[in-house]
Amino acid sequence: MDTIAIILAAGKGTRMKSTLPKVLHKVGGKPMVEHVVRAAKTAGMERQIVIIGHGAEAVRQEIGESVEFAVQEPQLGTGHAVMQAENALANFHGTAMILCGDTPLLDSNELKKFYERHKQSGASASVLTTILDNPFGYGRIIRDGKGDVLGIVEEKDATEVQKNLHEINTGIYCLECPDLFLILKRLSNNNAQGEYYLTDVIAKLKEMGKKVGAIVTEDHDMVIGINSRRQLAEAENVLRQRILNKWMDEGVTIMDPASTFIEADVEIASDTVIRPFTWLEGKTKIAKNCEIGPNARLTNVKVGESTHLQFIYAHDCQVGDEVTAGPFVHLRPDTVIKNKVKIGNFIEVKNSTIDEGSKLPHLSYIGDTDMGCNVNVGCGSIMVNYDGKKKHRTKIGNKVFIGCNSNLVAPVTLGDESFIAAGSTITKDVPEGALAITREKQKIIDNWAKKYFQD
Ligand code: UD1
Ligand code: MG
Repeated sequence: MDTIAIILAAGKGTRMKSTLPKVLHKVGGKPMVEHVVRAAKTAGMERQIVIIGHGAEAVRQEIGESVEFAVQEPQLGTGHAVMQAENALANFHGTAMILCGDTPLLDSNELKKFYERHKQSGASASVLTTILDNPFGYGRIIRDGKGDVLGIVEEKDATEVQKNLHEINTGIYCLECPDLFLILKRLSNNNAQGEYYLTDVIAKLKEMGKKVGAIVTEDHDMVIGINSRRQLAEAENVLRQRILNKWMDEGVTIMDPASTFIEADVEIASDTVIRPFTWLEGKTKIAKNCEIGPNARLTNVKVGESTHLQFIYAHDCQVGDEVTAGPFVHLRPDTVIKNKVKIGNFIEVKNSTIDEGSKLPHLSYIGDTDMGCNVNVGCGSIMVNYDGKKKHRTKIGNKVFIGCNSNLVAPVTLGDESFIAAGSTITKDVPEGALAITREKQKIIDNWAKKYFQD
């Protein structure tokens, strides 16, 4: 598409009642402005110019340097916001598509269709509209008796008759440059909000005898503009349902869509089953044939094939193929669980590698540990990684047997095929093939108990 996008993201979002800039509020786990940037890129727009102002630095950092920025300071309205793109577009002759940073459900195909229809119409400006049962809060499209567009009136400036109109301004426009910037300079702020409204461009062009058009989309959801927390929840619901439908269409079983939350960037392969009360977040990627949940929260986790995870919270870590984990497991950042590992109940693993086939069946803390293959970790074993000042690592070879209730005081190394007797506190390295035992020898006092119970 030989067009560029101007994305308006400088407003404060007063109605959100938040210290966070509105466009950074998340929908589907991603700031809403990022959804807009992505839609513009997917639609194939050559450049994206994001207008920032309120919380500019935070917005700039969140979006990153793949787009251009122009700063609007102070924020005097949507028309004034677009004006800030003038320098960046000094030599640009063509169509600018204006998008709002607070409409996260945009569909890139609809944007393409809108652009094509604008081009075919030969209009100087086109606005994308839709018909809503409840148009409250949106600008209304004013048409004459023949159906031609005359302009847009904001809710706050509308008469009672105009408020009854159901065709609304989606906030998406195709406007021809450089004429656009000449018109913007003629806007006034004589309205209920004392702002320079971009919407007035349509009436201004019409008055000048230019052709303006309004193109209607049937996609009501994609144009939801978020001005309040209620609308945020509404958009979240729509996006959530879309994401769930997409993965079901791709061959993923979702047993209870009502209690399943999957963020926009998650990927899931077919024949995986998602059980109820599951949250899949961030860049989580799940391979085929897995069973996830019930009660799983995975944030930025890569999961291999045929793995079963239940009652688990895992974040920023990797889990291999044919792993079973849960119930009641916490996998913390920088953990790598290799194939065929078995993690039972009440286990925490942090910043550790657990190599193939090892078993951690019950009640253990594994921190800062490099564990070999086929290790058996007995119930209640603890890697003592912290001396109150520094963290230290524990190294465990292959086929090591760690008896129940052992403490391995790091830094310490256990050689391959070594054996730790139950209840031992290990402070020194254990050589390959050796037994380490650090507990008191057992004493037997005959008949002691018999006497005790007779008294
Ligand atoms: C705007 C439209 C309205 C339309 C609705 C669609 C105007 C005057 N009104 O209203 O007709 O139905 O969007 O969602 O355009 N912004 C800036 N700088 C500013 C003011 C706003 O960058 O000075 C940005 C905001 O960050 C936001 C976007 O522009 O992303 C729209 O502003 P907002 O205040 O949400 O306008 P609405 O009242 O929703
Ligand atoms: Mg808005």
